[in-house]
Amino acid sequence: MSLPTILLSHPLPPEWIASLAGRVRLLTGPAEPPGFSGELLAHLDVAEGILCLLTDRVDEALLARAPRLRVVSNMAVGVDNIDIPACTRRGIPVGHTPGVLTDATADLTMAILLSAARRLPESARDARQGRWGTWSPTGWLGADLRGATLGIVGMGKIGRAVAERARGFGLRLLYSNPAPRPEVEAALGAEYVPLEALLRRSDFVSLHCPLNPRTRGLIDEAALRAMKPGAILVNAARGPVVDSAALVRALTEGWIAAAALDVTDPEPLPPEHPLYALPNCLIVPHIGSATHGARRRMAEIACENLLAGLAGKRLPHCVNPQVFGDV
Ligand code: DGY
Repeated sequence: MSLPTILLSHPLPPEWIASLAGRVRLLTGPAEPPGFSGELLAHLDVAEGILCLLTDRVDEALLARAPRLRVVSNMAVGVDNIDIPACTRRGIPVGHTPGVLTDATADLTMAILLSAARRLPESARDARQGRWGTWSPTGWLGADLRGATLGIVGMGKIGRAVAERARGFGLRLLYSNPAPRPEVEAALGAEYVPLEALLRRSDFVSLHCPLNPRTRGLIDEAALRAMKPGAILVNAARGPVVDSAALVRALTEGWIAAAALDVTDPEPLPPEHPLYALPNCLIVPHIGSATHGARRRMAEIACENLLAGLAGKRLPHCVNPQVFGDV
């Protein structure tokens, strides 16, 4: 019996995808450029499964070229790179990897929040470049955390994990979300508020919502102007949740104090982008889930989803369970 053809858009360490060995015919694309291109595209007509990354677009055009496709498995929790309705219309289940990157992403969120609050990039650069004179009582002053307010936009798994960590730093918690989460309020003392109030009252605003039509451009000029002048914006969600041009102006003109970005729009952010020139903007290259453990588990779960789909079974983590007749 011939093995089902699977397209893997980017090489992964063999031990991360060991469960596929001997069960699929795996065709792997190159590390660069990102996405399905060249040779791999030529095999779409026989592909029964796709294992993709958040940088791969799985859209109508690609699906139309893959008539035998039975499962799409994303090695990410976010699925904004995939046209879910188009997959659902075709009865193709889409898998993702929730849970296993929650701690890594929440840790990174706190790392960049603290880094921006305490001006680590500027002070480290100054030390390295010989600008560390004597100990200065007024040098490199940053923001206090205890008693300050953190507003969390999107109280999903990662938002909650950030809230848990933030409590340890003595931050007060506000959150906005499509619906209140009474269990989070009870456990962590977080207050559910409309976004407008969150922006107005928070010293730190941390974004953890998915990217969708409702959240694209959510943090626009009006939102940035609504924030406190001393506030710090943290984005560990998706770049397009923030209007990049408005953010440049906000940081340049002092509408807010600083930003810490794990994600940007566009991504990757080209070296000539004005955000890099701003000393009050910390940018790291989408490394929220970049720990050995988290990335390996993401790949393993992506394989589990893929194999389940090929076997015609429910995916352990499916974003469109309606393809299995679930509501
Ligand atoms: C995800 O899985 O969506 C994350 O952005 C990866 O870091």
